[in-house]
Amino acid sequence: MERTAVLERFDVNNVRKDFPILTRTVNGKPLVYLDNGATTQKPRQVIDAIAHYYTQLNSNVHRGVHHLSQLATDAFEVTRHKLKPFINAVHEHEIVLTKGTTESINLVATCYGKAFLHAGDEIIISTMEHHSNIVPWQIVCEERGAVLKVVPINEAGELDMAAYRSMLSDRTKMVAITYVSNALGTVNPVKEIIDLAHASGAAVLVDAAQAIQHLPIDVQALDVDFLVFSGHKMYGPTGIGILYGKEKWLNAMPPYQGGGEMIKEVTFAKTTYNELPFKYEAGTPNIEAGICLAHAIDYIQEIGLDQIARHEHELLEYATRRLLEIPGLRIIGTAKEKSSVVSFLLDGVHPYDVGVILDKLGVAVRTGHHCTQPLMDRYGIPGTVRASIAVYNTTEDIDALIAGVERAAAMLR
Ligand SMILES: Cc1ncc(COP(=O)(O)O)c(C=O)c1O
Repeated sequence: MERTAVLERFDVNNVRKDFPILTRTVNGKPLVYLDNGATTQKPRQVIDAIAHYYTQLNSNVHRGVHHLSQLATDAFEVTRHKLKPFINAVHEHEIVLTKGTTESINLVATCYGKAFLHAGDEIIISTMEHHSNIVPWQIVCEERGAVLKVVPINEAGELDMAAYRSMLSDRTKMVAITYVSNALGTVNPVKEIIDLAHASGAAVLVDAAQAIQHLPIDVQALDVDFLVFSGHKMYGPTGIGILYGKEKWLNAMPPYQGGGEMIKEVTFAKTTYNELPFKYEAGTPNIEAGICLAHAIDYIQEIGLDQIARHEHELLEYATRRLLEIPGLRIIGTAKEKSSVVSFLLDGVHPYDVGVILDKLGVAVRTGHHCTQPLMDRYGIPGTVRASIAVYNTTEDIDALIAGVERAAAMLR
């Protein structure tokens, strides 16, 4: 009760106490972790749950009649149970547990492709997609003779919606778009994108890898066909991902992989497939991560996504304002709607060199192309320095970033 009251007031210093790693030093300096877009740190509630799983529950799921197997199965299914209201799915069986966003997108591209794509059909993605929302579609286009179309962006990093509208036609079978850009921070107008796609008869996959931990998402309100995200970017363990798919699509598509769990009956003559969601969950899943993701969902809900979004937005605005005070610093991605990411370049300095200096000062940022090479090509740059913000970051973290960038500017220019 006391803890809930504290979180209701949102005291970032209390939130930080939940993340043991934030007390460590790096290169003799307190860790300032601003690489949350790559992966977030884990609260002790998740870390404790991992230890609890291995000390009390470890067993394979969905198969055994013995006590531990039933406990592990129940705990694993609790996660699916919690995910349903978290994204407001109609059915629990619309939630498939995968390895991560990448696997979820590959699953949809492969299975949707087999069921519905023919030569001459078109798939629309955007310039700001992560490689994991480009390459699976390229592969399936090659296999099925379909055509990949790419929505351009403006200099600020916003989608050219007029171009998008003009690309849609009855040939469009799928629109696969990121909700929040991992490299620019742009929040895309996904509801409008979905409505326009549906008006043309196309299905929509939304990559929510950088949205689910920052914004409330309601799959029914969005009317999205597929939504994908990763546990490790939302304070949960690595090795677990989510694929939400409307029941009608998951029923209509063939299985992704064959093996145990995804079958109803196997004979050498013919195999019948399991019901949803198990049809898409071949083999032993990442049980530990599946179970412990539930604790990350609880954690986010205890604080509240509205509260998280407000806190992160204040930090984003503060970071943007302070960074722009540094002479010769250019922010890449200046969309009106942004979330939690600020990417920048120092004139004449390679982003990698800035990253190395920041690391010496204990500040963890990401440098490079952020798995968005076509986006970097669009801007004609090799990459950026990216600071990405999470619920436990503070204005002091941003001050440390600014001091580090100023130091890098003084040393490197
Ligand atoms: C927008 C976006 N999509 C997809 C991915 C891939 O996620 P994962 O590596 O967890 O599969 C990432 C990871 O950085 C991302 O930021």
